[in-house]
Amino acid sequence: MSSPTAPLDVTPFKISPPLLNSSCPWATTPQHLLRAYLSPHTGAVTTRTSLLKGFDQDLEIHQHTFFSSQSGHSALKALSPETVVSAKDLEGGEIGTSSLNTYGYSPIVFSEYLRYLRGMRDAGYLNGNLKPFIVSVTGSPEEVAECCTRLLKFQNEQGSVESRKGGGGLIVMMEINLSCPNIPDKPPPAYDATSLVEYISAVAKAQLSFAQISSNQERMGLNVGIKTPPYTYSAQFKVLLSALESSAELYGTCPIHFITATNTLGSCLVMDVSGEPALGSANGMGIGGMAGDGLHAISLGNVKTIWTLLDGSEKNSVRNIKIIGVGGVKGKDGFGRMRSVGADAVAVATVYGRIGVGAFCYISGAVVVVGEGMVCKECENLEFRAKNLAYSL
Ligand SMILES: Cc1cc2nc3c(=O)[nH]c(=O)nc-3n(C[C@H](O)[C@H](O)[C@H](O)COP(=O)(O)O)c2cc1C
Repeated sequence: MSSPTAPLDVTPFKISPPLLNSSCPWATTPQHLLRAYLSPHTGAVTTRTSLLKGFDQDLEIHQHTFFSSQSGHSALKALSPETVVSAKDLEGGEIGTSSLNTYGYSPIVFSEYLRYLRGMRDAGYLNGNLKPFIVSVTGSPEEVAECCTRLLKFQNEQGSVESRKGGGGLIVMMEINLSCPNIPDKPPPAYDATSLVEYISAVAKAQLSFAQISSNQERMGLNVGIKTPPYTYSAQFKVLLSALESSAELYGTCPIHFITATNTLGSCLVMDVSGEPALGSANGMGIGGMAGDGLHAISLGNVKTIWTLLDGSEKNSVRNIKIIGVGGVKGKDGFGRMRSVGADAVAVATVYGRIGVGAFCYISGAVVVVGEGMVCKECENLEFRAKNLAYSL
């Protein structure tokens, strides 16, 4: 089949140091995003997943908790997005090191995230550091394509181009969340071959249209990734590979540049000490997505399998796809395991929600013990700085 136009040129992204937060409720507000951005131990920052139209968050049913895989139950009440639990140590004591959540997406609309980032750029907060913001999005294929177009324009508008002249500035990437397990009647599209192809094609077309209208100018492409759910059998991985390879065939190059594996594992139930579901949920059963310690083995298996399949592809652009490994990393060992199975960078959510920015200090080795309020010297007033900077946005 002939290629509709010339391949898109996208400079490969760099996440250095290779540690970041993954999409989560602790990446909802400007203060949250600045907190992760200001840490010297992160090489990128991911936003919470947003929609063009926003998400109707109801705190009675969209919740999270932590639980102990040892005791098998949650010792906590359902928590709201603002809560960072002050875990006393890495193992979490009674709180435990796994999480369950019944969230949908961010109540803040996609355009607001662009406004926050534009504000940070214009206030000079991003000068001196080329740390990408990975904007997590979802919606229909058409809506995701629209997000892609808007991010491309944002990346290339005058203010962004200017901001990058001094060695720092604004860089955005887009991560398509195709794997949230908590939306009633909407199974994660990444489990379905037809849906995957639709999303990848929509992104390719958005990138090609942008390339065509701006073909005379110097422009910066957009690194686009897919967030995948934990796959459990080989045919699911092959569906992913085949969707990526067929897009490479059709468009001359694969429009997907990274895969973030994995999201939470759906259909999980955690009870409290009295035997009641620990969380509210859209269908009332308290069933949600599990992460943290309990997810680590399946996430590692997914990263290794995806890396092996990509590496064996005959398509150059598919072999070049990078992996952000996520799932149950809470220290140096887990970080090392993710890297050893093929992750270019490693992201965390549960440990970040449990401990806060000290989690980055600990994973990167800047502190040797971690727990309540423990951060390295460089991060001592980071919360305060993030709050102050966010104030004017
Ligand atoms: C409370 C909570 C909310 C989450 N919300 C999102 C989300 O909005 N979008 C997304 O792509 N992943 C979301 N995730 C999944 C995480 O980004 C991550 O993929 C998963 O939790 C595995 O990493 P972990 O074991 O370090 O938590 C959420 C995870 C948790 C714990």
